[in-house]
Amino acid sequence: MGLLSLSTVFSLVSLAMFVNVASDSTGEAHALFKWKASLQNHNTSLLPSWTLYPFNSTNNFARHKTKTSLCMWSKISCNHAGSVIGVNLTNLSLKGTLDEFSFSLFPQLSSLDLNTNELFGTIPPQISNLSELNYLDLSTNKLFGNIPLEIGQLHSLASLDLSENQLKGFIPPSVELNDNWLTGSIPPSIGSLSNLSVLYLFCNNLSGSIPNEIGKLMSLTDLELNDNWLTGSIPPSIGSLSNLSILYLCSNNLSGSIPQEIGKLMSLTKLALSENHFTGSIPHSIGSLSNLIILYMFRNGLSGSIPKEIGKLMSLTDLALSFNQFNGSIPHSIGCLSNLSMLYLHSNNLSGSIPKEIEKLMSLTKLALSENHFTGSIPPSIGNMNIALNDVLDGRIPPPSLEVENKLKSIMQVAFSCLDVNPRSRPTMQIVSQLLCN
Ligand SMILES: *[C@@H]1O[C@H](CO)[C@@H](O)[C@H](O)[C@H]1NC(C)=O
Ligand SMILES: *[C@@H]1O[C@H](CO)[C@@H](O)[C@H](O)[C@H]1NC(C)=O
Ligand SMILES: *[C@@H]1O[C@H](CO)[C@@H](O)[C@H](O)[C@H]1NC(C)=O
Ligand SMILES: *[C@@H]1O[C@H](CO)[C@@H](O)[C@H](O)[C@H]1NC(C)=O
Ligand SMILES: *[C@@H]1O[C@H](CO)[C@@H](O)[C@H](O)[C@H]1NC(C)=O
Ligand SMILES: *[C@@H]1O[C@H](CO)[C@@H](O)[C@H](O)[C@H]1NC(C)=O
Ligand SMILES: *[C@@H]1O[C@H](CO)[C@@H](O)[C@H](O)[C@H]1NC(C)=O
Ligand SMILES: *[C@@H]1O[C@H](CO)[C@@H](O)[C@H](O)[C@H]1NC(C)=O
Ligand SMILES: *[C@@H]1O[C@H](CO)[C@@H](O)[C@H](O)[C@H]1NC(C)=O
Ligand SMILES: *[C@@H]1O[C@H](CO)[C@@H](O)[C@H](O)[C@H]1NC(C)=O
Ligand SMILES: *[C@@H]1O[C@H](CO)[C@@H](O)[C@H](O)[C@H]1NC(C)=O
Ligand SMILES: *[C@@H]1O[C@H](CO)[C@@H](O)[C@H](O)[C@H]1NC(C)=O
Repeated sequence: MGLLSLSTVFSLVSLAMFVNVASDSTGEAHALFKWKASLQNHNTSLLPSWTLYPFNSTNNFARHKTKTSLCMWSKISCNHAGSVIGVNLTNLSLKGTLDEFSFSLFPQLSSLDLNTNELFGTIPPQISNLSELNYLDLSTNKLFGNIPLEIGQLHSLASLDLSENQLKGFIPPSVELNDNWLTGSIPPSIGSLSNLSVLYLFCNNLSGSIPNEIGKLMSLTDLELNDNWLTGSIPPSIGSLSNLSILYLCSNNLSGSIPQEIGKLMSLTKLALSENHFTGSIPHSIGSLSNLIILYMFRNGLSGSIPKEIGKLMSLTDLALSFNQFNGSIPHSIGCLSNLSMLYLHSNNLSGSIPKEIEKLMSLTKLALSENHFTGSIPPSIGNMNIALNDVLDGRIPPPSLEVENKLKSIMQVAFSCLDVNPRSRPTMQIVSQLLCN
């Protein structure tokens, strides 16, 4: 009897002592306690301050009603309202899974550091419930399985380290964290995701330089880091990415010269380095990129002459080198680019005459050569080509729809053909009316 009433008093005291702790944090405390209990190696010496009972008690009433001083627990940090904002459990030999971790009960958690433990199992997709999470380090554990795509929903995430796990072989084919508000730099540990084939980090707020370790991602086929605040130069290690098909580094603050190693990227089909601060000349090795379809280098500080090797890029459809300081003349080899549809060389310091080989570019629809120092005349047959109206039309009005553009183009073609110096090359009125009615 005496014993019973004593414990009742005990729990009443406990209740009185901790009643002013926000009820939210009771949920958080129970959640952390439950997760600790799920660990294989939990015992009384593991995180001893993590207890729901302020005093040792086996009384069931106390177990369920007692509020707890969560913010006094070790490795936990709280905000003024008593909600958990930081959990740092590095290097504690924790052995277990994250399955019992009730992520949705930690709406304020901004930092979760579990590195260097023995956590196994998969990363639950519910990790995306940590909507305020800014820092996530699960590195050096034994986690396996796919990195959940839901990680991409962690819009506050600035730092992510998943390296040194057993995610190997099961690594998702892609990490797509584009269109987030990621800040900070790309961690060198990215190099550990060696089976990664797609890495999308475009349209974020990333700064710092591109880590040299990017060269370890030998399986990459698609690397899109465009529209960030990246600085520094392109690491020469990029040359190791022999399977890379798409490389978008445009719209950053990158500088330095374009490394000649870029010529090793023999699988490249699309290369966009535009809108950066690159200087120096285009490396001659560019001629090796025989699969290149799109080459954008506009709006940089590039100089020197356009290498004649550009003529080896036979698959090119889009070549934009405008707004740089290229000098010298357009190489005659440009005539080899029979699939070229867009040729933008405007706003450079190019000189000499416009090579007549440009007439061979029968697929050309967009040509811009203005703001240079060309001499001589424009090759006459350019008028016979499918040249775009973009340069003809007033730049202040939006470009025409494709349909309208095509109609106008065919009208212009007919008009030009009617002006042919050779009367026998001029179409008959019947042909003209057929062409215009199509
Ligand atoms: C608790 O577990 C750790 C390792 O998991 C072990 O070293 C320690 O001896 C255990 N303590 C008790 C009291 O069982
Ligand atoms: C709780 O009891 C355990 C033994 O069961 C003891 O080792 C520990 O020190 C006690 N904790 C407190 C706060 O009294
Ligand atoms: C976690 O604690 C360790 C030391 O115990 C420290 O080195 C590390 O920086 C902490 N992590 C965070 C995110 O504060
Ligand atoms: C982890 O802790 C052990 C001691 O418990 C220490 O020897 C080791 O250096 C620590 N490792 C890291 C990465 O901090
Ligand atoms: C928690 O995450 C899971 C998986 O992404 C999702 O289905 C669920 O709706 C989320 N719950 C909350 C409360 O955000
Ligand atoms: C990459 O994937 C292959 C099989 O797809 C696997 O055998 C290999 O261990 C993985 N390597 C790494 C470093 O993850
Ligand atoms: C992104 O970076 C820009 C420029 O540094 C800054 O003005 C902006 O506030 C940042 N946005 C976020 C969400 O961090
Ligand atoms: C590169 O691609 C080829 C063909 O798809 C493939 O066999 C090879 O394993 C890839 N190399 C790497 C390092 O992923
Ligand atoms: C990026 O470059 C612009 C223009 O040179 C400069 O104004 C800006 O400060 C740079 N931003 C960073 C983050 O380097
Ligand atoms: C040019 O384009 C045609 C049609 O798209 C394509 O069949 C051909 O392979 C291309 N030529 C080169 C050299 O890529
Ligand atoms: C191009 O400019 C460089 C300096 O940037 C100069 O050395 C070179 O002679 C120029 N070439 C021509 C053809 O004007
Ligand atoms: C452009 O070339 C002319 C000579 O043709 C030279 O005088 C001028 O300095 C060059 N400008 C730039 C920005 O390279």
